[in-house]
Amino acid sequence: MEKKIALAPGDGIGLEIIPEGTKILNAIEEYTDYKFKFYDTPVGGQIWKKIGNSLPKESYETMAKCDAILFGAVGLPDLPQGVAESAILNIRQGFHQYINLRPVKLLEPLRDKCPLKDEYIGKGIDITIVRENSEGLYSKIGGNVHDDTALDVMVFTKVGVERIIRYAFEYAKRKGHKKVTSVDKANILSASMMWRKIFEKIGEQYPEIQKENFYIDAFCQWLIRKPYEVQTAVACNMFGDIISDEAAYLIGSLGMAGSGNINPNGVSMFEPIHGSAPDIAGKGIANPIGTIMAIKIMFEETFKDPLIGSLIEKAVENALYRGRTQDIMPSKPSSSIKLLNTKEMGDLIKEELIKLLKK
Ligand code: NAD
Ligand code: IPM
Ligand code: MN
Repeated sequence: MEKKIALAPGDGIGLEIIPEGTKILNAIEEYTDYKFKFYDTPVGGQIWKKIGNSLPKESYETMAKCDAILFGAVGLPDLPQGVAESAILNIRQGFHQYINLRPVKLLEPLRDKCPLKDEYIGKGIDITIVRENSEGLYSKIGGNVHDDTALDVMVFTKVGVERIIRYAFEYAKRKGHKKVTSVDKANILSASMMWRKIFEKIGEQYPEIQKENFYIDAFCQWLIRKPYEVQTAVACNMFGDIISDEAAYLIGSLGMAGSGNINPNGVSMFEPIHGSAPDIAGKGIANPIGTIMAIKIMFEETFKDPLIGSLIEKAVENALYRGRTQDIMPSKPSSSIKLLNTKEMGDLIKEELIKLLKK
């Protein structure tokens, strides 16, 4: 099976973690029938500095011909805000990737890195955030009026809200989740009031699934109070962005979570949820696991191969007993867990994956 994959490392640590992702794909290629063809697709601040465009036409057209896009991160501290970042929105919206799937699972070896006490972790944390990815506050309607007024319009369309909520219920059904939690601000925002009505209406079609509503502020506290109660959570673009970084830290680090920007009938993009991390960029110490988990989601959602997906997760889990990047090192010194740099972490996961693929 040949798969064409567009590689868009972007800026900062994006350049360091994407090679660790391709390392994993190379291992899969070696031990299965998959064949990967990689295409370079520059995006972000670096390419903007060269040509004045953060999403060159050639990159976009190459992505359109691929089976999937693997994206690193964009953003440079010496550029005006939004110049590099607009590339992500232009891909998400251009390719109609209206679902942003962000699974956040606490792996057993990282229990000690969860900032919560054991009683709050309970049986574990295994949450999927289903984030609306095409509208809301990211509608691109807005701008500056003279120098002293700026606005961003929060757009909710019936079509947009219905499709993301239906997807969340279908996802929950597929994963055997018993509950869908909707996150909104329906106590004040009219857009959220419409969201909640649609959630209740579509929810009626899923009598076997429990429905739950939270206001965004209360949900942020619920995530650190009873994270084990949350299974599938569905939220608009802005709220989904915020709760995903909070949830990712609960599983050890922002560097742990992967995501899929999904168009069920088109080209999807897979990326870690974190950014270009200028504070650690260039040091070779970034955690590559978010990217590797994004590849897991690529196998599940685009290649419809959950078996390979589960092997990738198992390989990550096994590797974490042996070595870790600095962000997830055990709080107490451990003689069995080595401190690793980005490349060594990628190598170790590859080694564990090969053991599983050979079985
Ligand atoms: P960030 O996610 O880049 O970093 C936040 C913190 O998490 C930093 O302390 C960083 O060192 C740490 N961190 C992030 N990823 C890590 C990893 N893989 N391993 C270890 N530690 C990691 O967020 P920020 O600092 O707010 O943003 C920096 C730039 O990235 C900005 O330009 C922002 O707009 C951009 N950004 C891009 C994306 C994207 O490309 N999808 C996402 C978020 C932010
Ligand atoms: C993310 C990022 C982006 C977002 C930014 C960089 C535009 O935070 O992918 O989570 O808000 O979606
Ligand atoms: Mn974000």
